[in-house]
Amino acid sequence: MTPLVFLITSLLSLITHTTAQSLNISALAAQNGTSILECWSLASPTSGRGAQNYPLGDFSNAFIGAIPPHTYIGQAWAPAVQYSMVLQGLVHLSLPTSKEDIYIQPGPLSIILVIDQRNVFISGHITDFPGSETTLIARFPVAGNQVPVHTVLHSGPCDVDDVRGLIG
Ligand SMILES: *[C@@H]1O[C@H](CO)[C@@H](O)[C@H](O)[C@H]1NC(C)=O
Ligand SMILES: *[C@@H]1O[C@H](CO)[C@@H](O)[C@H](O)[C@H]1NC(C)=O
Repeated sequence: MTPLVFLITSLLSLITHTTAQSLNISALAAQNGTSILECWSLASPTSGRGAQNYPLGDFSNAFIGAIPPHTYIGQAWAPAVQYSMVLQGLVHLSLPTSKEDIYIQPGPLSIILVIDQRNVFISGHITDFPGSETTLIARFPVAGNQVPVHTVLHSGPCDVDDVRGLIG
């Protein structure tokens, strides 16, 4: 192989490798009546205008919630299948049935998909906002209340190793 062909082949494999990365986000799912935390991998991205575009699907009635500092909500259930993205502040989610919990801040791990709805699942989750600033959360209820196509990467929330591709 000439150096040029080698270079092009390497670049192509790099590009193919890069585009194969899906968006990985934490999910508050449910299994057998118990809310659980998992790391999910969503649909493959497309690329355009120099960006990787990760599909999230269609939404209905998205909004931004502002929650005062040091707010304790207690046990709750997902009102619908929805993505929540923390824009500012700090969210702490824990489970009544396990020791697992997650702190969510703005950044590559700021999105969580919440699907532990009360009408289907039992235990729910506990939410509090322990930060000293107002927490801003963008909420995107998924159209038709459909759980997005996904594969489960592992149990427990996604961590920094699951979003390396977003950090660069
Ligand atoms: C679900 O709960 C039932 C009743 O408690 C139990 O018999 C069953 O093994 C559980 N299934 C799983 C997958 O945990
Ligand atoms: C998502 O997880 C997969 C499997 O671990 C990994 O190959 C991929 O790079 C991750 N995506 C991002 C954007 O980091």
